[in-house]
Amino acid sequence: MPAHLRDRHVVVVGGGSGIGHAVAHACLELGAEVTIASTSADRVAAAAARLGHRARPATVDVTDEDDVRRFFDGLAPVDHLVTTAGDWGGQRSQTLADLDLEAGRAMFDVRFWGALALAKHGADRITADGSITLTNGMIGANPRKGSLVSTAVAGSIEHVARALSIEVSPVRVNVVCPGVTSTGGWETLAPEDREARRGAIARTHLIPRPAEPDEVVQAYLYLMLGGYTTGQVIRVEGGSTLGG
Ligand SMILES: NC(=O)c1ccc[n+]([C@@H]2O[C@H](COP(=O)([O-])OP(=O)(O)OC[C@H]3O[C@@H](n4cnc5c(N)ncnc54)[C@H](OP(=O)(O)O)[C@@H]3O)[C@@H](O)[C@H]2O)c1
Repeated sequence: MPAHLRDRHVVVVGGGSGIGHAVAHACLELGAEVTIASTSADRVAAAAARLGHRARPATVDVTDEDDVRRFFDGLAPVDHLVTTAGDWGGQRSQTLADLDLEAGRAMFDVRFWGALALAKHGADRITADGSITLTNGMIGANPRKGSLVSTAVAGSIEHVARALSIEVSPVRVNVVCPGVTSTGGWETLAPEDREARRGAIARTHLIPRPAEPDEVVQAYLYLMLGGYTTGQVIRVEGGSTLGG
């Protein structure tokens, strides 16, 4: 397995913040040329400026298929495509009794349909020894009351990645499944909510704290560099499935 990404072109959709930004930073450290993209031109431009001259900003809205097609038309050939795109709007916690089906459908737009649109229009731009890495979350494996739709979205990403790995072979397709990770979203919680969540993690995880983005990044790097892994999910979850 090569220990570098020298002169490879890595595209990180969602790379303007959080886990995606940390992935972009690590790829640059390993010698890659990196394109980071999201819906906000200002946010990706600021993020690219922080990352340095080998990071290029681009805009794409993964919920708009025409925009995804335009995005890839404007890109140099891609070696590795990563998506961490995720939105946080809407009523994310809904029990069966309150379930709003329209809002539930919309929760698939960015993470599931967006990932499929990226694969559909990006796959033939990816070099044969390249890869696609999708992102889901541990709510797929650890459902709780009110997580009906979030659990379904996360599970659907895992399943579609297995099917995609057949469609686009020999390009590899895998999924990183992070547990709670201290990105910007975590920092915006009210201090008392953050403490309550920290307490719950301490009680239920074998590693009693949230992940740092750099710890999650290691999984993305393995999936880009490890050329014999496809159709797989790597869970970076601090022992949450064993601890509670
Ligand atoms: N952090 C955690 O605890 C955690 C745990 C489990 C799973 N995850 C998953 O990991 C992924 C990344 O999480 P994060 O914490 O790094 O979140 P984040 O910082 O909010 O990053 C999400 C990125 O997605 C972009 N985005 C949103 N809608 C988009 C669209 N329609 N098209 C293109 N880009 C879009 C956002 O940029 P713009 O707003 O500029 O478009 C943002 O840069 C998410 O899918 C999340 O569900 C996170």
